[in-house]
Amino acid sequence: MTGLTPTVVDGPAAAGVAAADAIGSVIEANPAAAVVVATGRTPMDTYRVLADRATSGLETSRLRVFQLDEYVGVAPDDDRSLSGWMDRSFVGPLGIDPSSVVRLDALAPDHDAICAGYEHAVGMAGGFDLAILGLGPNGHLGFNEPPSDQTSPTRVVDLTDESLASNTAYWGPGRVPSRALTAGMDLLLAARRVVLIVTGDAKRDILRRALTEPPTPSVPASFLQDHPDTLVIADRAAWGR
Ligand code: PGA
Repeated sequence: MTGLTPTVVDGPAAAGVAAADAIGSVIEANPAAAVVVATGRTPMDTYRVLADRATSGLETSRLRVFQLDEYVGVAPDDDRSLSGWMDRSFVGPLGIDPSSVVRLDALAPDHDAICAGYEHAVGMAGGFDLAILGLGPNGHLGFNEPPSDQTSPTRVVDLTDESLASNTAYWGPGRVPSRALTAGMDLLLAARRVVLIVTGDAKRDILRRALTEPPTPSVPASFLQDHPDTLVIADRAAWGR
């Protein structure tokens, strides 16, 4: 049988601990790991646990961090900046030097050049050692909106109505930009280890499709089934029975 079986835990707090355990193992083995880092609500518990562990000895400060996605046209000091969210939740609390962070510059007019520069930086890092990801309500990874297949590169995308709606929960009505830059499926699926964190009953149907139905561009996360080292951590609400 193909498919992926999640590690199921009680709720979001337990998912944060389980994800931090898995991420902590990668960091202990390689304190300078290249890590691509999701924002969104889901990984925030995980990042808090990692920050606690950093204060009690986990060596996080040497990580090389890559931004997963960003809204086009949003400045770093805008409250909607995903770069800023990553800084507040991950880079700062884990004591990572800002010079070790590769960002997606959402203000630069030449998107092709920005994406090519990002791909070059990932290549220079030897690829991602670890991808920390959440699951979109439409099955996206980063902003690889459906349809996206395994080869979809780092690029600009138009956000789907589902992503606009889900992101409205962060920023309020009418404040979600319509386009975004995203790390490509090609780079994410080449990560040596993937930790996908999924919580809440709103993700239940899409998680089941992603893990159990044949991989399809209509559910980009479903391609993780073909990835050699993906850990899915789901809470009971997201996986159900
Ligand atoms: P969420 O977002 O963690 O806020 O649910 C996940 C995503 O859209 O990728």
